[in-house]
Amino acid sequence: MTRMDAFRNRVGGLAYGGDYNPEQWDPSVWREDVRLMREAGVNTVSLGVFAWASLEPEPGKFEFGWLDEVMDLLHDNGIHVNLATPTAAPPVWLTHLHPEVFPIMADGQPFGFGNRLHYDPSSPIYRDYAAKITTKLAERYSFHPALAMWHISNEYGPTAHNEASSVNFRRWLRRKYGDLDTLNEAWTTRFWGQIYTDWDQIEVPNIPRTWMNPSRRLDFKRFTSDALLECYIAERDIVRSFRDDIPVMTNFMRFYRNADYWKWAPEEDAVALDIYPNPADADSHVSAAFNYDLFRSLKGGRPWMLMEQAASAVSQWKLNIVKEPGRMRLGSLQALSRAADSVMFFQWRASRGGQERFHSAMLPHSGPDSRTFREIIDLGREMKLLAPVAGTTSRSEIAVLFDWDGWWGLEETFGIPRSDFSYTDTVMRHYTPLWERHYPVDVVPAGSSLDGYKVLVVPNAYLIDDAGAERIIEFARDGGTVIMSFFSGVVDDRNRVRPDGYPGAFRRLIGAKIDEYWPARPHEVFAVEFADGRRATSTWWRDDLHLETGTALATYADGLLEGRAAVVENRFGAGRVVYLATLLEQSAFDSVVLDAVAAAGVRPLLQDVPSHVECSVRGDAAHEYLFLLNHSGELNASVPLEAEGTDLLTGTTVSGTVELAPLGAAVIQRPRA
Ligand code: GLA
Repeated sequence: MTRMDAFRNRVGGLAYGGDYNPEQWDPSVWREDVRLMREAGVNTVSLGVFAWASLEPEPGKFEFGWLDEVMDLLHDNGIHVNLATPTAAPPVWLTHLHPEVFPIMADGQPFGFGNRLHYDPSSPIYRDYAAKITTKLAERYSFHPALAMWHISNEYGPTAHNEASSVNFRRWLRRKYGDLDTLNEAWTTRFWGQIYTDWDQIEVPNIPRTWMNPSRRLDFKRFTSDALLECYIAERDIVRSFRDDIPVMTNFMRFYRNADYWKWAPEEDAVALDIYPNPADADSHVSAAFNYDLFRSLKGGRPWMLMEQAASAVSQWKLNIVKEPGRMRLGSLQALSRAADSVMFFQWRASRGGQERFHSAMLPHSGPDSRTFREIIDLGREMKLLAPVAGTTSRSEIAVLFDWDGWWGLEETFGIPRSDFSYTDTVMRHYTPLWERHYPVDVVPAGSSLDGYKVLVVPNAYLIDDAGAERIIEFARDGGTVIMSFFSGVVDDRNRVRPDGYPGAFRRLIGAKIDEYWPARPHEVFAVEFADGRRATSTWWRDDLHLETGTALATYADGLLEGRAAVVENRFGAGRVVYLATLLEQSAFDSVVLDAVAAAGVRPLLQDVPSHVECSVRGDAAHEYLFLLNHSGELNASVPLEAEGTDLLTGTTVSGTVELAPLGAAVIQRPRA
């Protein structure tokens, strides 16, 4: 049994609850908290996330009395604790004693006190104090009966430009390159005469008065992720050294660029996501779906934890819209549909003061007699009905490549044909038609196994290492379909242009050589004609592409590239490659993607279901659970079913057609055929 299996058994299926910050409240409130938690069906809370200053008010002076009381109280009420190490919020005394722990920002200024995450992850002083408080907590609570999980720190992310960061960066570089000649070669330091002759000359990138060396910048991104990961591992190992059977994790963020979550995931028992889809954005549930698929994929298809979401509005944007009635429930079911094993919130009780005093909570300022709390109670009831889905997952035939190295290369290293690429927008452009048509999708990093997939979607993989490129080539050779968009395979893992013409890594794969990349002027629109006569437009980018073994699925119908291929098909080994050399208008883009998927023999989960209904499935050897979620606030939907089952939310048998009211949902349990 894994640690997460044990956790699921302990909470009786799915975890339900949120961040609990009793240190902000008088103890008289704690009793009301647990009473209302029980009423809401809360079974798990994340405790002490920012409580360092309350636990260690002076250096080496610890106050655990209040936490003892809260842990006991929660346990007595059957509520499990995901106990946090409070190291995301160093106390003010620490920063006064050691101002050098403050991260120096890219502009050379220290971050200062008054927020959180005010530490340089490479600072030995910070790490030392973090280890001490972690050890104290582990000593005291490892065997407390309420302890169910360790929540290490919070949303790792600071980038620091301190002297300690440079020292750690050098150590990291020595380990990676071994000697300076290799480093100089990797960073192409002969360009602009940047050759290093001593390790001590190397510093983390400071504010570049001119462009920063792109390979140094790339390594700095990798290093920052690794330095943060070192902090996580150090704390994880401390708590593990006291007790080995409690799961340990930290909470990640949606589309977060500063940490390579593929590298982090193996170090955790479960990956956990904090996500705040913006209710003002009508499509935020689609990018949420991609993030949920990513999180399920980060540990090879294992269920993940939804660690934080908002019960209603957040408070960090200019305009903070409420989640309208029913949307919090629907968003929670959406996470469960894509293999989350928890629905947790920031936070349990709304704070009266502090930066996030208007961030919604399970228990809002208006108290238990409120719309939000009533919805929280209702959801708590449904979480129990959905307990059978815990531990189940899904597997898809389509994989989308999502890779931090590629992201950093494209967005962080500048000096490329255009500097306004958005990797996540590009990924979403590729994912959305698949989501709208109910195709299940997994997410893969460069270089991972592609066994079992029929289609691989490769959005703008500008930077990819040799092994990653080779995997994609093998996949196509062995019969897979690759859908790839422009500016892929251009540079190696050192950010150096691959030789023998663009796209160096994929020239044979796409069956074409690109002479030049032709980014478009603003407002430039090109006519494109498909082989079957359909016409479309494209913008933003064109490859000046010369077919080798490939054939044109579409050509430019005007401009200097008239008659040249805009979309290429290449039969490669036993497989097929479709390469998009320009940014097609959305409907034409969607058709190219969906035609390629259909031609590869992949079928959607359900056909003839409108795109405002999200369909997904998770299951195990015995059962599958089909989630149907109507995201429209106005439209009803009818969903034809292939086989009958039981709707876990109503306990009724459903067959034929399921009718969904606006924002309605069904979770249909069926035995595996
Ligand atoms: C993050 C943090 C929380 C809280 C929420 C809401 O996810 O982890 O502490 O600040 O955002 O803004």
